[in-house]
Amino acid sequence: MRLFTRPYQSRQGRATESSPALLWLLGALAGQLGVVGGCPSVCTCNGTEVDCGGRDLVSLLALGLLPGIRTLVLSNNRLASLAPGTFANHSALEYLDLSNNYLDGLPATLFRELGNLTELVLRNNSLTSLDRGLLRGLGQLRRLDLSLNGLSTVSPGLLDELRSLTWLSLAGNRLHALERAAFEPLASLQHLQLGGNPWECDCNLRDFKHWIEWLLYRGGHVDAVECTLPKDLRGRDIRSVPVEMFNYCLQLEDDNGSSRGGNTPPCNRAASPSITPPSEGPPPAPAADASAPDCVRQRYRPVSVRRAIGTVVIAGVVCGIVCIMMVAAAAYGCIYASLMAKYQRELKKRQPLMGDGEGDADPEEKQISSVA
Ligand SMILES: *[C@@H]1O[C@H](CO)[C@@H](O)[C@H](O)[C@H]1NC(C)=O
Ligand SMILES: *[C@@H]1O[C@H](CO)[C@@H](O)[C@H](O)[C@H]1NC(C)=O
Ligand SMILES: *[C@@H]1O[C@H](CO)[C@@H](O)[C@H](O)[C@H]1NC(C)=O
Ligand SMILES: *[C@@H]1O[C@H](CO)[C@@H](O)[C@H](O)[C@H]1NC(C)=O
Ligand SMILES: *[C@@H]1O[C@H](CO)[C@@H](O)[C@H](O)[C@H]1NC(C)=O
Repeated sequence: MRLFTRPYQSRQGRATESSPALLWLLGALAGQLGVVGGCPSVCTCNGTEVDCGGRDLVSLLALGLLPGIRTLVLSNNRLASLAPGTFANHSALEYLDLSNNYLDGLPATLFRELGNLTELVLRNNSLTSLDRGLLRGLGQLRRLDLSLNGLSTVSPGLLDELRSLTWLSLAGNRLHALERAAFEPLASLQHLQLGGNPWECDCNLRDFKHWIEWLLYRGGHVDAVECTLPKDLRGRDIRSVPVEMFNYCLQLEDDNGSSRGGNTPPCNRAASPSITPPSEGPPPAPAADASAPDCVRQRYRPVSVRRAIGTVVIAGVVCGIVCIMMVAAAAYGCIYASLMAKYQRELKKRQPLMGDGEGDADPEEKQISSVA
């Protein structure tokens, strides 16, 4: 592997001996064309691996990277932005590390040619949002590290083509809810890191919790998803929050349907602009969710009260029915008994008149009198 780098360095050495001007010319040519078989002077190379980490780079324009490199490390620099065509001629790239820079946005087409990329590291930058087309065409990507950024949403569509992705980190961002639909295309996902985000364990997270459970059922791994809101769930791991805690969400949707234009419509799925039909007028802003705890609390109480009232009403109805049945049975018993007694009496009155019944009735009377 070193064979690739050494000839270049020795050539460089010879050039220095002969003429610095020629070296400068060669360097400029190499920088412009990026075709000369060699290593950018500020980087270290090992075959198709290029390591330009920790070099205080602010731009990649003058670097003169070779096409054909497979591994490119650009971590620990001062890159704040990248031009759209930066990696245009690097379709052989398999590993790209841009961690620990100051990137606060990425052009939508930056990775468009990188069909061979298997690992992309964007850890510890300043990314607050990603264009939903950014990862298009990365069908070979297996690991994606987006940890320690400022992401507040993962837009549906962003992960759609990452069918090979097995490992994804979104840890240490500003996520408070996630769309289940955004993650469903990740058919190969095994490891998901979500820690260090301000999760709000309300109705907006319910579908995603179901998806997490499905991922776990499939044999996947998810690290701790600790709720920061509502207060009574603070510090709880969403995996341990029973699904029943979210039952009120369904009820809410029903309520919402029956009493249209209710008093707290903004609480309903405020952070799911893609699913909610655009009938609510202005698109709900996921960031402006300061009222979320109030929403959650307001919802908890009426539901439990309603449930208690319901229980009491049902118990009352059941008791009432049982009582009515008992009264009816008692009344029926009394009426039946009195009717039977009356009938018996009439029968006894009639029997002596008939004459032939005397023989039957007499022995009884005789027995009673003999006992007495
Ligand atoms: C160069 O790469 C080979 C394998 O890719 C590795 O074994 C070797 O240690 C590397 N050398 C240096 C100096 O990094
Ligand atoms: C990519 O290569 C093509 C020709 O192979 C060249 O015209 C173009 O300038 C190169 N782009 C970059 C960004 O190096
Ligand atoms: C993040 O990047 C900055 C600047 O590159 C660096 O100073 C800091 O130590 C990094 N933090 C972590 C946790 O890697
Ligand atoms: C992957 O890299 C090879 C060269 O190693 C190249 O021929 C091929 O076009 C690349 N595939 C894609 C999808 O870019
Ligand atoms: C909730 O109510 C709003 C309007 O008040 C309506 O647009 C929306 O479709 C309702 N959602 C459900 C789930 O019923």
